[in-house]
Amino acid sequence: MIDHLIRQERDGGYWLIRAEGRAIELNDAGYRLMACLHETQGLLEGPELRRLAGADMLHNGSGILSQLRTYGLDRPSGWAAVRHVPCDVPSETLPANAVVAPKRIYFEITRSCNLSCRSCFNNSRHALPGELTHQELLDVNRQAYELGVFEIRYTGGECTIVPGFPDVVADARRRGFYVSIGTNGVYTDEQLEWLPHCGIDWFIISLDGDRDTNDAVRGAGTYDRVLNTLKALGNGPSTRIRLNMVVARHNLGSIEAVARVAADNHASSLNLIPLRPYGRSVHQMTWDMFNQEDFYEFIREVNRLRKMFRGVTFSTTIDLLDPEATTSHDLIVQKKTTCAAGVEACVVGPLGHVYGCSYSPASFPDSTDLEGKAVFIAGNLRDDDLRTIWRDSRRWSVFRDLSHYKNAKCHPCGHYQVRCSGSCQIMSWYELKHQRSVAVGEADIKEFLDPYCFRDLLDERGRTADLSALLGGAGMDGFR
Ligand SMILES: C[S@@+](CC[C@H](N)C(=O)[O-])C[C@H]1O[C@@H](n2cnc3c(N)ncnc32)[C@H](O)[C@@H]1O
Ligand code: SF4
Ligand code: SF4
Repeated sequence: MIDHLIRQERDGGYWLIRAEGRAIELNDAGYRLMACLHETQGLLEGPELRRLAGADMLHNGSGILSQLRTYGLDRPSGWAAVRHVPCDVPSETLPANAVVAPKRIYFEITRSCNLSCRSCFNNSRHALPGELTHQELLDVNRQAYELGVFEIRYTGGECTIVPGFPDVVADARRRGFYVSIGTNGVYTDEQLEWLPHCGIDWFIISLDGDRDTNDAVRGAGTYDRVLNTLKALGNGPSTRIRLNMVVARHNLGSIEAVARVAADNHASSLNLIPLRPYGRSVHQMTWDMFNQEDFYEFIREVNRLRKMFRGVTFSTTIDLLDPEATTSHDLIVQKKTTCAAGVEACVVGPLGHVYGCSYSPASFPDSTDLEGKAVFIAGNLRDDDLRTIWRDSRRWSVFRDLSHYKNAKCHPCGHYQVRCSGSCQIMSWYELKHQRSVAVGEADIKEFLDPYCFRDLLDERGRTADLSALLGGAGMDGFR
């Protein structure tokens, strides 16, 4: 059983505390100490080790010894459950703008689904022809293990209806991953018997509003089924729960209801995902998408609810109104320079494609957008292994070459890399395609600002001044 993973990076490394689903960044001295301790199986001997142990070694500047004590790693017995993954190649050959291996893999194991939501960005309902076999699913687990991936998030479609899914989860647990699932939470009684006990650490469950609002999008009866699942999970082994809510005009008024469900059912977080206009939502929901004004209202609502439900962590994008907000509330991906796509995390799709983000054209293997697929798909596991694909930055330039692909307004913006990850390359890509379809002339991805960005409205309405008063005089531009 693996309880901890130490992984070397180009500089320093990470320490995954599996039970908490938390990865701590180590500076170089911290990583070397952990590697030495692993080699000696926890025996802190010799002047070099003693010198190292005295230093501050976590990237946040705090001491490492108290952390070791907390997890029983100040005694040799604790080290039997620690795995170490050192770099297997010279550091200068590793990607410069990405971690050495994905920290998290979003593993879309199928497009089949027991629901058919109006919003669904990847058109899930029926399995795609040629989806990965059970053996291939296990082989992705193996490759991820060898690379030292921290978390596998099974998703889809609906991962829980895939035959053999419990075996895939059991294999992942044996390999020491933190195991999470993105799920609709609409389970049969039989599923409710085994799902809470099969080794899943984190359930991320969709709920898109109060009963009427949710059911209008996700199907009749789904609200009650999700509430039933939340109760069952509450009765099972202590499980981490997050609610995912896709937000647009139709459900702005029911975020409070979902926050209440989260608070009442021990869900530690509520992730509010602005509707992405892809897949089924293009035909069924695009008119509900927020414009800038709506997005501004939405963020105000989030901040109102943050004060009401202090036990629930609210996360979303372009979180500009809260000086305390960060780009990441995540315990594994840090989103220091941009969102995690292609830099700290990747998707493995149901046909074996590897890509940065599910919203991109990479999600539609049968689409005719060959250019979009070439830009966004980094490879396929049926042709290359995960290590080769991840470490070849030429395949990931849309996510790793930020000076080229982020909008020029983002780089000097005071919110960038603080409470906003900058313009979304995928939203920009679709805007570019749209512009090309209506106008003659060439443009570039980086010329498009995220349509949800409401920064200009803040400036127009003097919100900068309001915040500046709050922050003791610092203006939003340049405020870090
Ligand atoms: C495609 S689903 C797969 C997992 C599972 N079936 C579920 O519904 O949670 C992954 C997440 O994407 C969200 N989603 C669906 N359509 C979306 C859209 N158009 N924009 C943003 N998120 C969307 C879902 O609500 C869910 O939280
Ligand atoms: S959003 Fe999830 S539950 Fe709904 S159709 Fe898509 S994959 Fe299925
Ligand atoms: S300009 Fe860019 S970084 Fe600034 S708020 Fe808008 S999207 Fe975010």
